[in-house]
Amino acid sequence: MPFAHLAWRRILAPRAQAPVVSFRTAPRCRHACDIAAATSGGALRGERKAAAMSISAIIGMQWGDEGKAKVVDFFASEADIVVRFQGGANAGHTVKVGEREFIFHLVPSGMIYEDTLCAIGNGCVIDPGQLFEELDSLNAQGIDWQGRLLISERAHVVFPYHKALDELREAAAGASGIGTTKRGIGPAYADKVSRVGLRMADLLSDELGPLLQRSLDEKNAVIENVYGGKPIRFKEVYETYRAYGERLKPMLCDVGLELQRADAQGKHILFEGAQGTMLDIDHGTYPFVTSSNTLGPNMFAGAGFCRPGFVGDQLSIVGIVKAYTTRVGAGPLPTELHDEVGEAIRDKGREFGATTGRSRRCGWLDAAQVRYAARLSAATEVFLTKIDVLTGLEEIRVGVGYRGVAAGSFPSCLRELDDLDVQYESFPGWSDEITECRRFEELPVNARRFIEALDELLGLPVRNISVGPKRSQTIVR
Ligand code: GDP
Ligand code: IMO
Ligand code: MG
Repeated sequence: MPFAHLAWRRILAPRAQAPVVSFRTAPRCRHACDIAAATSGGALRGERKAAAMSISAIIGMQWGDEGKAKVVDFFASEADIVVRFQGGANAGHTVKVGEREFIFHLVPSGMIYEDTLCAIGNGCVIDPGQLFEELDSLNAQGIDWQGRLLISERAHVVFPYHKALDELREAAAGASGIGTTKRGIGPAYADKVSRVGLRMADLLSDELGPLLQRSLDEKNAVIENVYGGKPIRFKEVYETYRAYGERLKPMLCDVGLELQRADAQGKHILFEGAQGTMLDIDHGTYPFVTSSNTLGPNMFAGAGFCRPGFVGDQLSIVGIVKAYTTRVGAGPLPTELHDEVGEAIRDKGREFGATTGRSRRCGWLDAAQVRYAARLSAATEVFLTKIDVLTGLEEIRVGVGYRGVAAGSFPSCLRELDDLDVQYESFPGWSDEITECRRFEELPVNARRFIEALDELLGLPVRNISVGPKRSQTIVR
């Protein structure tokens, strides 16, 4: 279905009323800027110039919560369209604008820029109730999202039985549970790969009733007979989701096709990763992972779009690396701190989940792990976040390798991870607050040395440094 009623010109034209938040204040994004500079000499015009526009992705290099949304917000000032391509409402993406805080779960963080279009790709699983709750809350905060959200007809739907199963399985597993967000993510993706899931387009189909009935019968049998839970009633779910379908109808489209058209027009597309590379279903710390592929290259499959014949500098995959490591939920965390340093980092970094409110486990930055993630996600540069949280520590440690494990590799078995012998390098800390620093040279010498060492240890240039949650608290190096 062509998305004719959402013509780019109209969407991207500035609106008459003043913006709700201060838009377009972030410095021009480095990669977009580089491409623009490369094409501004007059040699490339029209379609050729358009074809050289960069595509960027923001990908977490750890176990999630690296500060991806702050970075999306930083770069989104130069993006025409921001796309989520995997995950669901398990994500908790926080953007701080002035004193206001926005938490996104399913909606791309670019939504707070009033002339930016947002898309949720086929690789996502969508809980429509959660989505509308989020959209209503954005409305209440003065963000007009109408006409700016595209949703893939192929994205799978999260139903109440997915959430019920997620909760029941976790409860039954007790202490050996994964510690999921209980947003129904695993069961929804399981239905997708089992080829029994319902997709957004099904909400509008005459077949919705029979499809839902079939799925519900099967799920209720498990809910009742395996877990002793309460069955879910068809009528209520059917009516609610039929109504969601009607509400969603104007947003449903072939997202991949829209992205391809946008790309042909020279629009800048920004992909917003959710979770982190170490939570990837294939390459993360299985089974303590989420149920989607969180890796950078999955953006193309999860959005249904890829430009043929990419050349290197047209694609930037920005690896978001927190200056320490956190993890929420169960599973291996090789550099975890179980002492007062870990607690101090948690308190200062306000390391409490944006989706579930759970406290995050904290540890030292693990360069060996980040190198593994950067390789898998094809990261081209690092955006270092939350380095301000380390201020005041006398000594800062970084995991630099695992005894007996090849560089660039990460153990695949939980047993091996249990016995992992992490080798550390130690750096002297700094005591002056750095949240007001805006240039690399303004940072204390030990902070600069730490970052310079990371260029080497992570194997990628640290191009940007975040020294606080706000857009302005960013150093371009
Ligand atoms: P995401 O899931 O990767 O988008 O990250 P979250 O939003 O879950 O968690 C990151 C938290 O750190 C949020 O509360 C951000 O506002 C905050 N944050 C982001 N960057 C910085 C930073 O450089 N310094 C500090 N102190 N906080 C930051
Ligand atoms: P953002 O996008 C941190 C974790 C859960 C759990 C595991 C599986 O904010 O970085 P799930 O509900 O996905 O089946 O849970 O994955 N998890 C996250 N941890 N940040 C996230 O998202 C996460 N999304 C899921 O805590 O350990
Ligand atoms: Mg988060």
